[in-house]
Amino acid sequence: MRRPVIAGNWKMHKEFSEVVSYATRFAKAISDVRDSDIIICPPFIYLRTLVEAFKDTPVSVGAQMMYWEDKGAYTGEISGPMLKSTGVEYVIIGHSERRQYFGETDDTVNLRIKAALRNHIIPILCVGETLEQRENSETFDVIDRQLLQGLDSLEAASAESIIVAYEPVWAIGTGKTATPEIAQEVHERIRHVLSSMFGSHTAEEIRILYGGSVKPDNVDELMRQKDIDGALVGGASLDPESFERIVRYKE
Ligand code: PGA
Repeated sequence: MRRPVIAGNWKMHKEFSEVVSYATRFAKAISDVRDSDIIICPPFIYLRTLVEAFKDTPVSVGAQMMYWEDKGAYTGEISGPMLKSTGVEYVIIGHSERRQYFGETDDTVNLRIKAALRNHIIPILCVGETLEQRENSETFDVIDRQLLQGLDSLEAASAESIIVAYEPVWAIGTGKTATPEIAQEVHERIRHVLSSMFGSHTAEEIRILYGGSVKPDNVDELMRQKDIDGALVGGASLDPESFERIVRYKE
């Protein structure tokens, strides 16, 4: 049985005072949840505040990206050892917004994934096709390439701990969710590719999340799909009540 993961990606939202009041309310609201891994990924400057606020609660903290070198003259970058020493346990790698606006490629995704694993931080690798690619029937080609290159030359033993998030670009922040059937079809494909890369045992262990306009009113049906092991939630994670409802999805 794969343990479900519900992760919130705050992107570039919230000011400091909102972060503190969110943490207080959310920690109280979900203190009894034991059956899922709950993760919040705020902007870098709030990581330490949230690590402290969520100490002794079921919530873990993740970063939204990281650099692949451990240290050096790379002005503005944040490294794996820095995140680890701050108490960060997860990191999102290759989000489509990083690929679209900041030049992230499958090769740099691969370097970051390896750096995260080297630093004992669990990477959440995002993959997904654009609307144009879906309309040209290229979805599986895109997903296959992003997985094969993004996870190139990883050992099965370390691949087991990673999390993959299927985030169709056309469903992110648009209010258009992939139907549970479309999502399941791609999740099944992802597990098939992972199996060809790392063997079926490892592929069965890897958690695959769906992301793209997940909301309180569609999470239940998505979570009922066989290969959907959780959700990566953007907009609906910004409000503690709606994120609590998503964490308390009903299968
Ligand atoms: P959304 O974002 O839930 O606002 O669509 C998801 C994501 O980009 O991780």
